[in-house]
Amino acid sequence: MLINGPRGTKDILPDTVAQWLYLEERIRDICRCYGYREIRTPIFEHTELFLRGIGETTDVVEKEMYTFPDRGGRSLTLRPENTASAVRSYLQNKLYAAESIVKLFYMGSMFRYDRPQAGRYREFHQFGVEALGEINPSVDVEIILLAIEFLRSLGLEALVLHLNSVGCPKCRPAYREKLQAFFRPEMAELCTDCQSRFARNPLRILDCKNEHCHALSQGAPRITDCLCDECKAHFDKVQSYLKELDVPFELDSNLVRGLDYYTKTAFEVQYTPLGAQSAVAGGGRYDGLVEEIGGDATPGIGFAIGLERVLLALEKQELLPEIEEYVDVFFVALGEAAEKTSFKLMQKVRAAGLAAAMDFAGRSLKAQMKQANKKKSRFVAILGEDEVKDTSITLKNMKTSEQKKIVFEELIPMLSVGVKN
Ligand code: HAM
Repeated sequence: MLINGPRGTKDILPDTVAQWLYLEERIRDICRCYGYREIRTPIFEHTELFLRGIGETTDVVEKEMYTFPDRGGRSLTLRPENTASAVRSYLQNKLYAAESIVKLFYMGSMFRYDRPQAGRYREFHQFGVEALGEINPSVDVEIILLAIEFLRSLGLEALVLHLNSVGCPKCRPAYREKLQAFFRPEMAELCTDCQSRFARNPLRILDCKNEHCHALSQGAPRITDCLCDECKAHFDKVQSYLKELDVPFELDSNLVRGLDYYTKTAFEVQYTPLGAQSAVAGGGRYDGLVEEIGGDATPGIGFAIGLERVLLALEKQELLPEIEEYVDVFFVALGEAAEKTSFKLMQKVRAAGLAAAMDFAGRSLKAQMKQANKKKSRFVAILGEDEVKDTSITLKNMKTSEQKKIVFEELIPMLSVGVKN
């Protein structure tokens, strides 16, 4: 019986790889402009890192992690996100020693045991950035701009930036109490998830996807009315910079994010045509995370973009680039001697950095020409018995249909000129 890939995973097939390479190139370009440097961390980490980093009562940790004991009995987890790993690496490798602000980016697979549907997978890819070491709200603005400008540079429209502040350990406890007082009379009406969130993390009730919980949240106290002076001043500055830079945003007091490490600024970028999975980017400030993972108190902020969702959005707007694959020369060989000579010439052409191919099945001239067309060959080099004898090639330019007899030595120079034109 055929063995299929696990549910929620996808093969990226040769025809689609070009789209990923395109995205990866755009990511590298924009990160260079903004001064973010690439970091690559392991796919799995000690489970403890995510328990402490993301928070034990989050959905990600409680329900979605791929956790397993290794053969030495250690508990390991496939990374469900990369912020905790980036912070671990920052501490372990003392990246803070070199610069007061460390700006990192990454791309790669993340793993969550989510319910698969369009735009939601169990293995998915994120492009993320993290800026560590600076509390100034202008870093928040730079990070938000980087997310928006990246998406815009791909041509995406209809992007909506949702912005909130989730406060800090100074102002959040009082807000939590207010929220609990608001929801207490409705306890029995909340969904079972929210009933358990009520005591542990009542802020999460605000972004419950259950329609009834959503309705019950109407009129709930807003965190932005309960911020301490420091958080309020920070949030005001972020907003005033965004206005100054003409970046439209919507204040969204129900935006609380699903990971526990957030403080102050929280944001998401929605691409509404994607429907249920419209969040293409999510991020925010996490001023307590470095300390949580064992370092000195260090502020941080970042975001991650779901690349499958970006590709879906690009497909919707018909913005996926047409990437043409071709070979520079296809060898059509007739007879065994011609085949051997063609093989030698093909290797020379390849060694010169050009793409060459030939048909290995010894088919007819017509069939080989068909193959050359299929491979979108720019030139076809035809070799028969006569050509082998007088060390010549019949070279056909497939664009102009022009055909010319040349000697072996002329092949690479002619191809190089032809390819340039
Ligand atoms: P997140 O909101 O959990 O944040 O994920 C960021 C983005 O990853 C989402 O907006 C979505 O586009 C994509 N994503 C999440 N889960 C899935 C899934 N199952 N399938 C497909 N795409 C998905 C984080 O991961 C934080 N680490 C972001 C961050 C960085 N905050 C600060 N720094």
